[in-house]
Amino acid sequence: MEKTQANIRINELTGILNDANRRYYVENSPTLSDYEFDMLLKELEALEKEYPEFAAPDSPTQKVGSDLLRTNGKVQENGKEFEQYPHRYPMLSLGNTYDISEVEAFAERAEKGIGNSFTFSCELKFDGTAICLTYRKGKLFRALTRGDGTVGDDVTRNVKHISNIPQVLTNGPWPEEFEIRGEIYMPWAAFDRLNEERLKDEEQPFANPRNAASGSLKLIDSGMVANRGLECTLYHMLGENLPFTTHDEALKAAAHWGLPVSDKRMICSGTEDIETFIKYWDTERKNLPFATDGIVIKVNELPYQEELGYTAKFPRWAVAYKFKAEQALTKLLSIDYQVGRTGAVTPVANLEPVQLSGTVVKRASLHNAEQMQLLDIHIGDYVYVEKGGEIIPKITGVELSQRSSDVTRPVFPECCPDCGTRLVKDEAEAKSFCPNSDGCPTQIQAKLVHFLSRKAMNIIAGDATVEQLYNRALVWNIADFYELTKEHLLTLEGWKERSAERFLKSIDESRKVPFERVLYALGIRYVGETTAKSIARHFGSIDKIENASLETLLEVDDVGDVIAESIVRYFKDEMNLDTIARLKAAGLQFETEEAPQALSETLKGKIIVISGNFSISRDEMKALIVAHGGKNSGSISGKTSYLLAGEKPGPEKIRKAESLGIEIIDEARFRSMTGMTDTAAATEEEPTLF
Ligand code: IVH
Repeated sequence: MEKTQANIRINELTGILNDANRRYYVENSPTLSDYEFDMLLKELEALEKEYPEFAAPDSPTQKVGSDLLRTNGKVQENGKEFEQYPHRYPMLSLGNTYDISEVEAFAERAEKGIGNSFTFSCELKFDGTAICLTYRKGKLFRALTRGDGTVGDDVTRNVKHISNIPQVLTNGPWPEEFEIRGEIYMPWAAFDRLNEERLKDEEQPFANPRNAASGSLKLIDSGMVANRGLECTLYHMLGENLPFTTHDEALKAAAHWGLPVSDKRMICSGTEDIETFIKYWDTERKNLPFATDGIVIKVNELPYQEELGYTAKFPRWAVAYKFKAEQALTKLLSIDYQVGRTGAVTPVANLEPVQLSGTVVKRASLHNAEQMQLLDIHIGDYVYVEKGGEIIPKITGVELSQRSSDVTRPVFPECCPDCGTRLVKDEAEAKSFCPNSDGCPTQIQAKLVHFLSRKAMNIIAGDATVEQLYNRALVWNIADFYELTKEHLLTLEGWKERSAERFLKSIDESRKVPFERVLYALGIRYVGETTAKSIARHFGSIDKIENASLETLLEVDDVGDVIAESIVRYFKDEMNLDTIARLKAAGLQFETEEAPQALSETLKGKIIVISGNFSISRDEMKALIVAHGGKNSGSISGKTSYLLAGEKPGPEKIRKAESLGIEIIDEARFRSMTGMTDTAAATEEEPTLF
């Protein structure tokens, strides 16, 4: 390649890869497949080798992708925040390859470097998010994410909700202090369950279990982490003067102390054994209950690991062999356009049934019109399907060499396939919507079904009942359920006295369903189960949510622009207000039980930023500020009145407050300011471990 061209390409690749890294590690929504990323990275490496003068100082070839939510004091896009701590030993990545001959080359290099006989430890490459646990005196002291490799986010509180991570070790003695690194991952079953819920709520499903794991690990509300079904596996112990001579011994000891270590390992003496292990797991991995994307091959003897050392990014004593994603080629028979609860129209491909990763695939997602165009897909084409981890697989490409002359270009409908209303396009989401939310039969019925569902009002009725009630014009609006009588129900086909009574009893019992679930049941776009919980707890009543400004809504953890705007839009609609009024009259819960009451006006006009941990949860602290007439804000500016600093406040926040001359107060001071001197009366605290 010519010099100027090389320069241009290096800049281009650096930009693409840095952006892809951010999308992957920070936003948990990857833009490139692993394979595409690895290939572009290899291209950049080769070019930088030839033209080192053009390599950017922040080249992705020189650093590990950063998962930090805050870099250089700037909170990244999703605005969440954790305290950050430096890693004692840099937390590196692994060199990887898709080519078995490069594994052989790695083994040869190691043999040459070591000169003596040694062994390899072959292990599964777990597809999750890296974690570093520190144990002190047999107790879990701290859990850090990889971060940028030098500094990690402190996720200890969240990690304590992962059931297979022991907070206290068994079978001592253990080293006074050691680190053990591994992966937090989400098994397929938990992943499918989570995505099913997200799809039901028309929230973007996670692209794969790794993104789901990393997104879940960084949830602000640690209580929610417990429900996500995360697991941990540990594969690398570090510390000063550890009493082991091999990696295998260290892992066996860890397992003995009660730490989760995979038994799917093998000590190999050379490339032949390594290849047997790789071949075995390339097939067997499909039967594992979790995702693996390859095999890691490590030099087993610790002194030899030390001898081989590290590059800036990788250990020289280990390499990852990555499996290619499984694909199948099949014929596209037709495309359905499905209308969801919120009116989003999704193209779904009907395929000639084909075997893929142990299941028969008949349908695949095409996401949106843009994706169809990008693939230039035609009905009758042979298409590649991949199971990226989604519940329904996706179409990743078209085999043009097999296109026949009778294929037809699909036309994305301009009108709703159900009610005929002209669709509107949401540019930001590249999705088409049927705007007739109050008249489109599919949308209405889907909303009714959602309202009744187990996690919403938990009223015992299925889709068929909803269809019956809808078709007989007995229920068109969620509030209509509360006006149903036994006489109404007995006019329906197949209904008997007993079934009608049971249904009415279940409706009656739903009047006790707590506010957070009622809020979820309303079916506000993007307000899923967890978001509804956060919002309900933050505001305490529907009236407060109705009157909340966009800005106030954004103060709630887990609420971003899209959700906040959707809520504001919902409450602007007269019809929704009318529904709420009817539901209120029917006796549903529209306040949390412990609704934050106005306690005083002592903080009137004060804007308070909080940082660190308190004797109560951060959400409760925010609610207290509001209850005393103050305002809570996420970031410090000239307008901030106080920085309320708890335990371990963010150093950036402290620095910024100091530089702007903003008064920093602690919890005791806050309590005395607001006349709440009884700190001990604060809500029950999670037991501190150390
Ligand atoms: S050892 C010094 N072993 O894969 C690096 N890593 O793509 C030591 N990973 O950063 C890492 N399974 O997060 C190791 N059995 C395993 C692994 C593993 C998954 C992850 C790890 C690493 C990434 C590289």
